[in-house]
Amino acid sequence: MDATALESEARTAIAAAADEDGLEELRVRYLGRKSPLKLALREVRDRETGLALNAARTAIEQALEQRERELSSDVVEDSDFDVTLPGEAPPLGQLHLITQVRRTVEDAFIGLGYEVRDDREVETVEFNFDKLAFPDWHPARSQRDTFFFDGTRLLRTETSPSQIHIMQERQPPIYMVSIGRVYRRDTIDATHFTIFHQFEGLAVDHGLTLADLKGTLLHVMRALYGAERRVRFRTHYFPFTEPSMEPDVSCPICGGEGCRVCKHSGWIEMGGSGMVDPAVFENVGYDPEKWSGFAFGMGLERTAQLRHAVPGLRPFWENDLRVLRQF
Ligand code: DAH
Repeated sequence: MDATALESEARTAIAAAADEDGLEELRVRYLGRKSPLKLALREVRDRETGLALNAARTAIEQALEQRERELSSDVVEDSDFDVTLPGEAPPLGQLHLITQVRRTVEDAFIGLGYEVRDDREVETVEFNFDKLAFPDWHPARSQRDTFFFDGTRLLRTETSPSQIHIMQERQPPIYMVSIGRVYRRDTIDATHFTIFHQFEGLAVDHGLTLADLKGTLLHVMRALYGAERRVRFRTHYFPFTEPSMEPDVSCPICGGEGCRVCKHSGWIEMGGSGMVDPAVFENVGYDPEKWSGFAFGMGLERTAQLRHAVPGLRPFWENDLRVLRQF
């Protein structure tokens, strides 16, 4: 028998074995009791032949062992795999635009020395309306405008209840901004959704005036929309401020020249504000003769829309990554 030819035939077959079953077959074929090699070994008469056949047997055993290790290891020897190529980047998330704007607002107020608050979204009639001096007839108190759980509990319609919470917790001076979700039973369309976000400011101290309110809002509007912005007030009504004003900011899109966004007025309505009504101070046990304060409340979605020229409200809630990844 030609030991060298047998060995090389076995090596080729073993190297090509695709799995462990295939390998086992080859082990039987080349080293089994009835294999030509084993039969030949039994017939050996001379030393030369014995050495040659044993060398072939050892070589085949080693080849089997090596192939077995290769098949059982996890390392795939794939010649198409180039380990020097850059890896696939893991997908990275990012903050939602509303969260980004929320943080910008927080930064602007922290720069003024305000504390940032996060209050409950499930409120009581007492905190959402009564202590804020909402009159009995106010439409926001109705089931049609507001999500009630029962006669006393509701989803807050504004962040203003934070004013009551902080004033009941402690004495002035207070400089706080409260940011979070609010809920209203609005019919959903391009510019209305039942959930949105507000930021609510409250300052209580000695001798605060309308000028302090206006200066504070001017600072924040410039932080949000650029150093060129101007602020103006239009008189309005809110239950918990007297006098009450709606602040306008000069249009950040056209700079006040007049465009589609500001409806060619040059100004954009920003929300509500005013001097804290003495009735509210009395409701929290503050002496209105001793303390003065101002408050304001504005929408975060509106802020994001103006900063990034986002049309309507839908993009904030649809969670379309193609839209959100742009910010
Ligand atoms: N809470 C009012 C609203 O949601 C906005 C507002 C008006 C907040 C006047 C205030 C304020 O703090 O002083 O429409």
